[in-house]
Amino acid sequence: MPGMSDALKAALADKSAGVTETLSQLLPEITDPEARLFQAMRYSSLNGGKRLRPFLVMTTAEMFRVSPSSALRVAAAVEMVHCYSLIHDDLPALDNDDLRRGTPTCHKQFDEATAILAGDGLLTRAFDVLASPPTHSDPAVRCLLVQELAKAAGPFGMVGGQMVDILTERKADGAPELDVPAITRMHQMKTGRMIAFSCVAGAILGKAPAQLRQALNSYAHDLGLCFQIVDDLLDVEGSAEELGKSPGKDAASGKVTFVTLLGLDRARDQARILAEQAIHHLKPFDGEADLLRDVANYVLERRS
Ligand code: IPE
Ligand code: IPE
Ligand code: MG
Ligand code: MG
Ligand code: MG
Repeated sequence: MPGMSDALKAALADKSAGVTETLSQLLPEITDPEARLFQAMRYSSLNGGKRLRPFLVMTTAEMFRVSPSSALRVAAAVEMVHCYSLIHDDLPALDNDDLRRGTPTCHKQFDEATAILAGDGLLTRAFDVLASPPTHSDPAVRCLLVQELAKAAGPFGMVGGQMVDILTERKADGAPELDVPAITRMHQMKTGRMIAFSCVAGAILGKAPAQLRQALNSYAHDLGLCFQIVDDLLDVEGSAEELGKSPGKDAASGKVTFVTLLGLDRARDQARILAEQAIHHLKPFDGEADLLRDVANYVLERRS
């Protein structure tokens, strides 16, 4: 995979296998009348994906010597919220996409009602998992994880960013005009906040000093923005085979992106600057953060 060091490739494969196993346990196959709901949740969460957010949770947790069983539960919770956001993002009322992770989107494979409920189920199950004692022995840590994930995913974070995205795409009455500062804010909300939670979660679990938690937050801030700029670039430059989702959708819907505002070259330059800045914030960790440095380069160079 382009942009991936051997160390990162091995760590990503190892951690994503663990997260998939944990997700499978937390979202069991059942035989009750609501079995279809679990089938849809499993369909949309066990079916691959890069597992970037769980990887960030696991890696930062390791930096603070957190037990893998705690970290895996938080990593699975973040991925549940992410998968819910993808299911709802793909619905006809939002991006109306047919392909996700190389397979039909949840509403295509099942139906719209089931897809809405599967998203609801993943979102709420994530908080159930975070709040449960096996996630951490200290209830204050569990409470902080719940609050920080809720803030990242909710109206001040991802869901708020999705609203701005949809409004500007539709150019509805009163829709905000997106210039570079406004699109930066939208990306921070839509994508950046969930990535930032994923990086800070390890520090919360490990009760890390505030200054180290802040360094990870700064890293994640630049990484998240870089990630969404590259997502927008790949929508123009990528193929369905590589991406596992349909390219060209942003242009087709007339979306304002970093690419439409800056052009391909300057958007890529911006992504590169952000990856460099992200790495710069890792200075306090020396060699302990090498995998996070590799992640920044991967996010920049990725083709999927
Ligand atoms: C896609 O996220 C949605 C965005 C925030 C751009 P990913 O690119 O991480 O999707 P998966 O998890 O690998 O499928
Ligand atoms: C959606 O952004 C990000 C989410 C919060 C789900 P996009 O709409 O650009 O994500 P893709 O390109 O469909 O994965
Ligand atoms: Mg979208
Ligand atoms: Mg989309
Ligand atoms: Mg996109």
